[in-house]
Amino acid sequence: MTEKNTAGVTLIGLGPMGRAMVRRFLENGHPTTVWNRTTSRADELVADGALLAGSVADALAANELVVLSLTDYQAMYDILAQAEGALAGRVIVNLSSDTPQASRDAADWLAARGAKLVVGGVMVQEELVGTEQAYVFYSGPRAEFDRFESTLARIGRPDYRGEDHALAQLFYQAQLDIFLTTLAAYLHATALVGTAGVSPSTFLPYAKETLDTMSYFLDEPTRQIEDGKYPGDGATVIMMGATADHIVGASESAGLDTVLPKAVQHLYARTIEAGRGRDGWPSLIEVISGR
Ligand SMILES: NC(=O)c1ccc[n+]([C@@H]2O[C@H](COP(=O)([O-])OP(=O)(O)OC[C@H]3O[C@@H](n4cnc5c(N)ncnc54)[C@H](OP(=O)(O)O)[C@@H]3O)[C@@H](O)[C@H]2O)c1
Repeated sequence: MTEKNTAGVTLIGLGPMGRAMVRRFLENGHPTTVWNRTTSRADELVADGALLAGSVADALAANELVVLSLTDYQAMYDILAQAEGALAGRVIVNLSSDTPQASRDAADWLAARGAKLVVGGVMVQEELVGTEQAYVFYSGPRAEFDRFESTLARIGRPDYRGEDHALAQLFYQAQLDIFLTTLAAYLHATALVGTAGVSPSTFLPYAKETLDTMSYFLDEPTRQIEDGKYPGDGATVIMMGATADHIVGASESAGLDTVLPKAVQHLYARTIEAGRGRDGWPSLIEVISGR
């Protein structure tokens, strides 16, 4: 029989996300030490069994595994600089959002102080932490990730992307790139039909149908992107670009903000200028990639 993993963990940063993680660790029997700049945010967790560290140094001393859930990487420096001498030998798993380069820089900063960095990006909102839907991208040293994987699995399915520290942030931001742009497109489309008196709830089933079928359009373009060949036997750049122009025209005459459709129109126009008008629409990736 496999012994149940109840390794100790320190969690620094008790916003909504950090608090949800602490609850999952406690529910699974992990002795959990917490620290937060605003101490009162630990009150309920302490009542549930978490151990409150009196200082950052004490929090670091309590466990080899130290999870950070902070607004950004600057918060990590603000906190850990208070106890640099206690960093040696720790594995810092930073689940805070920031740029890929911030992750690489943090790995160097921690290495200079004897600590290892594993970078993570949590792909669900806080109320889903620890559920079946929850998954978390990780990158950084494989050995440290492997050692703590079963503990980290308490907050969501770990998805290790590779040794380069930037990878977890890149995957996280690539997913949010799709998410934020799509949500903004939904709002723009709802506003567009709204200018003719169509209610959001009337439009909703149509928006859902489009979103539900979007993934159908990805398999063949992915093959084309990998081959670097974009046969124009389906939807060409010229045809799709004309539609992009019409969406801008419709938005302008309706008095809407046109930043979003103009960004899309710009990509089609640049691709046509590059001589790819008769290629398929996935060739836009050449312009996006600056090739
Ligand atoms: N919330 C979600 O559903 C969700 C989903 C996916 C990913 N994330 C990511 O998870 C991370 C945490 O999210 P959250 O919602 O818990 O964020 P949050 O409410 O902004 O909490 C951030 C934590 O960072 C601390 N903090 C911020 N700046 C600091 C500084 N300069 N010095 C010391 N402590 C500082 C805060 O301390 P105080 O309590 O003292 O202010 C708090 O504990 C973020 O990177 C976020 O992008 C969140």
